[in-house]
Parts: sequence; structure tokens; C-alpha cells
Amino acid sequence: MKVTVVGAGNVGATCADVLAQREIANEIVLLDIKEGFAEGKALDIWQKSPINLYDSRTTGSTNDYSKTANSDVVVITSGLPRKPGMSRDDLIATNAGIVKTVTENIIQHSPDAIIIIVSNPLDVMTYCAYLNAKVDSSKVFGMAGVLDTARYRAFLAAELGVSPKDIQAVLMGGHGDTMVPLPRYTTVSGIPVTELISEEKLNEIIERTKFGGGEIVKLLGTSAWYAPGAAAAQMVEAIVRDQKRIFPVCAWLNGEYGMKDIYLGVPVVLGKNGIEKIIELQLNDAEKALLEESAVAVKSVMDVLDNMNANA
Ligand code: LAC
Repeated sequence: MKVTVVGAGNVGATCADVLAQREIANEIVLLDIKEGFAEGKALDIWQKSPINLYDSRTTGSTNDYSKTANSDVVVITSGLPRKPGMSRDDLIATNAGIVKTVTENIIQHSPDAIIIIVSNPLDVMTYCAYLNAKVDSSKVFGMAGVLDTARYRAFLAAELGVSPKDIQAVLMGGHGDTMVPLPRYTTVSGIPVTELISEEKLNEIIERTKFGGGEIVKLLGTSAWYAPGAAAAQMVEAIVRDQKRIFPVCAWLNGEYGMKDIYLGVPVVLGKNGIEKIIELQLNDAEKALLEESAVAVKSVMDVLDNMNANA
């Protein structure tokens, strides 16, 4: 299996490192536009292999997409990260241009690749990649829900004093302040979370999750990378190992949840064909209202991209 990670910044390099460390692909290509940057990071990851005992061959390339040819999966992390005070949406103009160019180059050399977008604003950059890849939407989707649920699960684990391994959760909607964590679908080893935590505490954790990315931007002056990189790698693993895992993923909706022509976070089955199924939960009215609110927010940023394209 061959996996390419575009963008050797913090998130891309972390993703490549996790892929190598866990031998998720035997060939990993890291590509970046900055001269020597991807080569340097890939070499460093490869030089760690005798210490941490893995044999995934990791190489780098400065913008030479021929090196990415015939990749099975491609992760796109390119683009500017947020600075303090910025919303993910502030990045749209710059990052849309970058994601468009990257997607076109990738598809030219790997027409059958499954593409996972990580660039922000996530839902709209996934839409941008889809418009430019011109392949089936089951093969172009975004990483957000795995990260957002990880944050939610980590906060819950710390609060409850239990292992994060034992927290299962689903979260829907856009990768932004309108994301929709779903307490009704949150369990601790099968126990409904509401039996273990007060409503007030749970609401605090839901609010903290919604702003989980921003909390890190404030602390570090730039976006997070350990959890985002690992989250993207986990999605790659589900695909290359055909695991049929159920993850919340930013997916193109075609009537599911009563919505059409929008990229939004929903639970899906991930396997060798990419998104193999979108799972439709029986949401109650309150949950539906939150999801619709999130869809309106995402759609308004998708419209910004459509207008930019119309005026281009
Ligand atoms: C975050 C960025 C990666 O949520 O969107 O940390």
C-alpha cells in the first residue's frame, strides 16, 4: 500500500510519523512545496525506524507529484493554520487555492486514490477538493469527527477518571463551533454517559469540545497537530486495512438526514472503497435542530467558495 501525505507541516508530518510507526502502509510519501522540508522530515522519520522497529519506507519530495504516483490513499493537510483570533473560515481564500492545485496534481498521478482532507475550513476545503477531483464522493471526504470525538472522549475520560479507551461517542455537523456532540449516543463501556455525569458537567464538556481547536490555538499560537495527525492516520488505517470502522467523517450528503449538496460530519463505515455507507441515526427533534443549524453555518461558507469560483 502507498500513502501520500501532502503538507509536511506539523499535522502532515505527525500523520506520516503515525502511519510509519504503526506500519499502516509500506510506502509513505511526504510532499511539501517548501524546498527540502518534506525530504528532511521523511528522512528523520525513516531514521527512527531502527529504534522504534518499523519498516514503512518514508520518503519526501519538494512538489514533485510524480513521486506520489499510484497512491492508494492521499491525505491533504496543506494550507495555512489558524493564528490566535482567527476562525477557521478566515483561511478560506488562501487555502481554497492551495487545496485546488494540490487536488488536481494528486488526481493526475493517482486517479484512483481515496482522498482525505484535513485543511481548514475543513468542510468547505473538502467540498473544494471534491469539485476539483471530479471523482465519486465516496472517495473524497474530510477528517474532523475523529478529532472532535477524540477531544470529547478525552475530556470525559479525565472528568470521570476512567480510560479514554472505554468512551464511545458520535459527534455530527461541521468542524466548527456548531459541531453537534450527541450525549444520547455517548457511552462508557456500554453505560449511557448520562448515568455517570451530571447534565451540567456534560454540557460544560460539550462546550469545551466545540472550542477544543481554539483552546489549543490560544495556548500554542498555532493549530494542534498530535491529535489531528493521529486522527487522519486512523482513517487511513481503516481504509488500507479494510476495517469497516464506524467514524464520524465529513461526507457529501445526497438526501441523508434530509440534506443534499452539502459536506457535513456524519457517521459512516470506512473501508477499502472509502465511505462504504452513511449511517442515518434516528435523531430526535432537538438533535435535528442542532444539525440543521450546523448545516446552515457550513453552507454559508460553501457559498463563499461558490461565489469565489463564479467570479474567478
Ligand atoms: C483543530 C484544527 C486542526 O481543530 O482544525 O485543531
